[in-house]
Amino acid sequence: MNTAIVNQAEGTNGAMVDRTRLPRHVAIIMDGNGRWARARGLPRVMGHRAGIKSVRVVAELARELGVGVLTLYAFSVENWKRHPQEVATLMRLLDEYLRRELPTLMKNEIRLNVLGDMTALPERVQEHLKEVMAGTGGNGKMVLNLALNYSGRCEILQAVRRISAQMQAGNLKEAELDEAAFSRFLYTDGQPDPDLLIRTSGEQRISNFLLWQISYTELYLTPTLWPDFGKPDFLAALLEYQRRERRFGA
Ligand code: IPE
Ligand code: IPE
Ligand code: MG
Repeated sequence: MNTAIVNQAEGTNGAMVDRTRLPRHVAIIMDGNGRWARARGLPRVMGHRAGIKSVRVVAELARELGVGVLTLYAFSVENWKRHPQEVATLMRLLDEYLRRELPTLMKNEIRLNVLGDMTALPERVQEHLKEVMAGTGGNGKMVLNLALNYSGRCEILQAVRRISAQMQAGNLKEAELDEAAFSRFLYTDGQPDPDLLIRTSGEQRISNFLLWQISYTELYLTPTLWPDFGKPDFLAALLEYQRRERRFGA
């Protein structure tokens, strides 16, 4: 069998994504739903609805190619500042997604995981999240992290608090606290750091996402709005990633 062909996936302009050099972890700041809707004279929530299709396409392609971890920023701690109606709709869409997606996650052997403080989410959503996490817990082909009620600073703070408690209880010594030990107190415990971070919609900021984990992540910023982000866009991001020279300071 010709492995050169088996290991490549067609990208844009006939270029090929090398399946042997994929990012192990891709994180995405899914942005631009509101602007996508406004451009069409639609309410913002229609943009969020349209964005779910992009979630499906990207998750499926990541899984098909063999990306190990896909992290999607779905709702930040700061997003509670939005109009209550928009927040309520986002929660309802999340709930709908969870109920509909379980069979696909099972079929594709994807494990769902949450990054963030779930306890502030509506109870119904928490229940469905727990159900889907338990149901998909044994799946081993890909981890899908949904960042919900997420803040990078809050994540680091909760780690520091737990570390401090462990030290006071005598379970952890100061000398044992290196970067690897610290990482185990983050929501991403056990996962590789993102190799690639994509942000859609042209904004050029991190918005409190994965502050610790992205220290050496490659950034890919695209003007494409999230609901327009499809298979060609994801492949283009992966191709660009494969053209980068990663030096890690060396
Ligand atoms: C991203 O789209 C979705 C969430 C933050 C939940 P936005 O809703 O931020 O869309 P814009 O940035 O206003 O266009
Ligand atoms: C970041 O997008 C959060 C999510 C994608 C969930 P925002 O639209 O909330 O971020 P800012 O306000 O542009 O920084
Ligand atoms: Mg936005």
